[in-house]
Amino acid sequence: MVCFTYFVTLALAYAGVVSAFPTHASLAGLSRDEVDRALASLEQATPTPPPGPLSDSGTKLVNDDLHPYIAPGENDIRGPCPALNALASHGYINRNGIANPAEIITAVMEGFNMDHGVAVYTTYAAFIVDGNLITNLLSIGEKTSLTGRSSSGTTAGGLNTHNTFEGDSSITRMDAYFGDNHNFNEKLFQEFIEYSNKYGGGKYNLSVACEFRRKRFQDSIATNPEFTIVAPRFYTAYADAVLPINLWVDGRQDDGQLDIEAARTFFEGGRFPPDFHRAARPMGANNEMVVFEAHPIEPGSNVKGVNTYTPDHSTPQKLDDLCVQYTFHVENTVRKMYPNPEGPLLESLKINLGYLFSAVKDKGCEELFPYGR
Ligand code: HEM
Ligand SMILES: *[C@@H]1O[C@H](CO)[C@@H](O)[C@H](O)[C@H]1NC(C)=O
Repeated sequence: MVCFTYFVTLALAYAGVVSAFPTHASLAGLSRDEVDRALASLEQATPTPPPGPLSDSGTKLVNDDLHPYIAPGENDIRGPCPALNALASHGYINRNGIANPAEIITAVMEGFNMDHGVAVYTTYAAFIVDGNLITNLLSIGEKTSLTGRSSSGTTAGGLNTHNTFEGDSSITRMDAYFGDNHNFNEKLFQEFIEYSNKYGGGKYNLSVACEFRRKRFQDSIATNPEFTIVAPRFYTAYADAVLPINLWVDGRQDDGQLDIEAARTFFEGGRFPPDFHRAARPMGANNEMVVFEAHPIEPGSNVKGVNTYTPDHSTPQKLDDLCVQYTFHVENTVRKMYPNPEGPLLESLKINLGYLFSAVKDKGCEELFPYGR
């Protein structure tokens, strides 16, 4: 009997290793066989439609008794987005760091007062490429011990996955080329402080964002032989530069000047400052064009090692045109990752692309149906 139990346990463990596909790993880029094998072990969930805007959208205490900070446990996932890390550690999304798109949208609106359209667009754009379209789950990072994709050997990267949504020249995270694209980096933060002292009188504000954004591009051009900044990272790099100004300044202060201690609490701590009140009104990447226009660059890459930055005109340099960005994401980024989807994957893609479109519909964009209606 003991022997038999042992055998069964071993057999089950072995079956687990070869067939269980992580419930939150993306199916993008897998072959048809790999998708079929993944489907066999995944429980299908219905895609979740985006929630509507907040009914009460002013400032309020969000670091409250119902949402205490609890440091992530050993099995909890955190990733490259300090805001999502904070929402997980305060329980606005599951503390394990795995959530569905509707939960993420609700959380970024409730916890930070992120603008509804921006929240819906960003979340579905990232979810479609980095999330699991069958289980409807997205991981905000990667648990390094977890190796996901069966034969290809790639990991269940979630939002850490390089060059799908995450990309180079971040504010406080190193380029993936240097080995760690998602943890806080103190050296980069010291440069952030230096720039805030020099251009912001000790605060991070829009004037600092203009200069620091340029510095981070220049550093990557000069040091990262694989530096690349094309869609969607070309767009999110500018958004990320202004989000701390628009959404991390306490809503009662509301003056666009982020103090360094609060910046550290978010970037490094992945948590809200004590008594933190969310922004005074819904905001997104407001003023990113100011940052772009201060020192415009073209999308591009280092093509032959460091200091070989070459423009790549396939990414439209249209930071202010969400219809163009939507079109590029659907027709290029998403289609490349899912060239021939079938069955439940195809169905989910169509539904989630519809949700993505809902975020740009009132901008007059034309809806695209790359996989049919
Ligand atoms: C709406 C859902 C969101 C998704 C899917 C998302 C995803 C991401 C990802 C993938 C990154 C890494 C980008 C990179 O460095 O390559 C990132 C960075 C960042 N996110 Fe988010 N984010 C979301 C919401 C927010 C919100 C609400 C805020 C602000 C309150 C925010 C602030 C930031 C900042 C400041 C960075 C830059 C970190 C750095 O460069 O050091 N994000 N986000
Ligand atoms: C940023 O701070 C500096 C120093 O106080 C100030 O001169 C500059 O006008 C500020 N910029 C913005 C956009 O608030």
